[in-house]
Amino acid sequence: MKELDQTKIPNHIAIILDGNGRWAKKRMLPRNFGHRKGAFNLKDIATKCNQLGIGYLTVFCFSTENWKRPELEVNYLMNAPMRYYKKYKQKLFDSSIRFKIIGRRDRLSAPFLKMIEELEEQTKTHTRLTLTLCIDYGSYNEIVTAVKDIAKEIQNGKLTIDEIDEDTITSHLFTKDYPPLDLLIRTSGEYRISNFLLWQMAYSELYFTDVLWPDFDEKELIKALIEYQHRNRRFGGLKDENSTN
Ligand code: IPE
Ligand code: MG
Repeated sequence: MKELDQTKIPNHIAIILDGNGRWAKKRMLPRNFGHRKGAFNLKDIATKCNQLGIGYLTVFCFSTENWKRPELEVNYLMNAPMRYYKKYKQKLFDSSIRFKIIGRRDRLSAPFLKMIEELEEQTKTHTRLTLTLCIDYGSYNEIVTAVKDIAKEIQNGKLTIDEIDEDTITSHLFTKDYPPLDLLIRTSGEYRISNFLLWQMAYSELYFTDVLWPDFDEKELIKALIEYQHRNRRFGGLKDENSTN
């Protein structure tokens, strides 16, 4: 049995949470039950990541395309977090997890926006895991926003076209203060990226599993981390500095 190497824990992992609906369907339950179970699972996985000393966990909760779902489901996804928040607020704060929300903010309801802003403000000095919830997030939207901001800086004379480099793009994304993404996990047997962190994952390791998100427990997380630790990350170079082949 392979074991986790405590000295090679990734600093930044991202997860495309997928399979809540199928988890519920398998049990002949309404889809929202799957989302409920998925939300509880996120709490457990974030707690585990925090214990393991992972610095950043970035999760895809609601995409810019998820508005196409039936109104009832969208309402559930947008309102349920507020109920959990009230219930778990103290516990969340005690764990010293720092919360961030990235994505469009202009389409969120006023009470939801108020909740997430409060959550970010009240945990901003926390020093353990940074848990980022991507809500109304889409990578295309993030890149378009970055391009517009860069164009404005050029217009205002703060930047010249020749000064634009890769760091200029990176530093205008929602994830500007984040370390590089080491590992991306997608659950539920789908082999797609679905408009998630396109720029950030240029050199990430990708891990796909058939396990549905509500079933993705600590054991599955450790399995993914062990697999990650056995990958040979070369970033376009050779195996190691002294390698001749
Ligand atoms: C993921 O589960 C949760 C969200 C995208 C909000 P799904 O709702 O996509 O579940 P499936 O894919 O229908 O099983
Ligand atoms: Mg899905």
